[in-house]
Amino acid sequence: MRESKIKPVGSATLTYNNKSYELPAFSGTEGPEVLDIRKLYGDADVFTYDPGFTSTASCESDITFIDGDKGILLYRGYSIDQLAEHSNFLEVCYLLLHGELPSKAEMAKFDKAITFHTMVHEQLAQFFRGFRRDAHPMAVMCGVVGALSAFYHDSTDINDRRQREIASHRLIAKMPTLAAMAYKYSMGQPFVYPLNTLGYTENFLRMTFSVPAEEYKVNPVLAKALDTIFILHADHEQNASTSTVRLAGSSGANPFACIAAGIACLWGPAHGGANEAALKMLEEIGTVDRIPEYVKKAKDPDDNFRLSGFGHRVYKNYDPRAKAMQIQCHKVLDEIGHHDDPTLKIAVALEKIALEDDYFVQRKLYPNIDFYSGITLRALGFPTSMFTALFALARTVGWIAQWKEMLEDPHQKIGRPRQIYTGKQQRDYTPLTKR
Ligand code: CMC
Repeated sequence: MRESKIKPVGSATLTYNNKSYELPAFSGTEGPEVLDIRKLYGDADVFTYDPGFTSTASCESDITFIDGDKGILLYRGYSIDQLAEHSNFLEVCYLLLHGELPSKAEMAKFDKAITFHTMVHEQLAQFFRGFRRDAHPMAVMCGVVGALSAFYHDSTDINDRRQREIASHRLIAKMPTLAAMAYKYSMGQPFVYPLNTLGYTENFLRMTFSVPAEEYKVNPVLAKALDTIFILHADHEQNASTSTVRLAGSSGANPFACIAAGIACLWGPAHGGANEAALKMLEEIGTVDRIPEYVKKAKDPDDNFRLSGFGHRVYKNYDPRAKAMQIQCHKVLDEIGHHDDPTLKIAVALEKIALEDDYFVQRKLYPNIDFYSGITLRALGFPTSMFTALFALARTVGWIAQWKEMLEDPHQKIGRPRQIYTGKQQRDYTPLTKR
């Protein structure tokens, strides 16, 4: 079991209906202090109201820290910039799961454990064949990842530490295989088995883009770029999909089902689907001279249109992941000889115009990770429909680390928010004949 690290730092007094209630205050190691309202309903018969959880800390966590005002993102205390520059995705997986960077021996053991699980049950190939060829890869991923629980019964007992570990390794190892299979299926090409002499990301590129008829050589620049993209997406604190995984897991659901729930949540355009939406928007804008028209639409309160890839619930500064993503974007376009990519030109011009516009400045709307990721992923050869599946692949380790942490938390309870009811008060049923 995990030990609580929060420290008491005093209390606040809430006066309600002429009575006073003491709310204990706690601090963590970084970020705002919290007021403990756990006993409030029992003591004062009142709920707190916080749609979208904008002021609510739902758990205690050691994994990821974000300072949205300063634009800081830390995994286990290490800044995302340093990890993106010096680490690799598999090492980041270890860090997120175990809390520390691995020694050489620990890394070799972890690498072996993950690589051992890259293949999927052969029957899963049949499962894929049940989908239409034009099914969205995220629809396929929701289905096949959920289906893993029907194939790996020996790692679904959440109370068994070893089973939890095997399920974690299986999920991290099999996500690239499943994502590549989803792509191959949509293309009508044969599935490519993993080749365990390759690294994690190289293996994924080969399973995705190689065909049996031709030799395939992994381009190291492109592999490094994709590996960095995976690092940037690996975890992001209590975002919508992670909270979904925790909520699903809080009922005792098995890990494969929980990750499938996370994938479903990630699919939405306000979350993981934004990179697809951002690229579509840049393509739709088409030329730099049309940017003002789109900026005007985004600012119009009577128009639902938003600039995809702009704004963030937590970052009220430049998203630190967006900076690293922009670097990778330029590297990939240079490598494939597309320095003059017209979409990149529009993105750079749009970013500049929006960052100087009062509407965006006042609301602290900056480019987020998705602004440049679509251009980069398209340059790597992925169709837009695969973008969110790649996000899911990378985020799986974050979801698992958070799920595991939740299960080891002695304060863990089934998640059960309350509501402020505004429906009809109790009334008598009228039989159909009398209506
Ligand atoms: N374009 C134009 N206006 C915007 C945008 C945008 N992209 N984002 C927010 N606003 C405005 C919004 O209309 C509101 O204005 P007003 O105060 O006049 O009503 C104000 O900014 C605050 O917006 P909000 O909806 O209250 O902010 P939120 O924290 O609930 O939403 C968001 C965050 C990410 C859902 C939102 O910024 C958005 O829809 N962005 C576009 C989609 C996107 O890029 N999502 C990817 C997020 S990063 C990837 C991830 O971590 O999942």
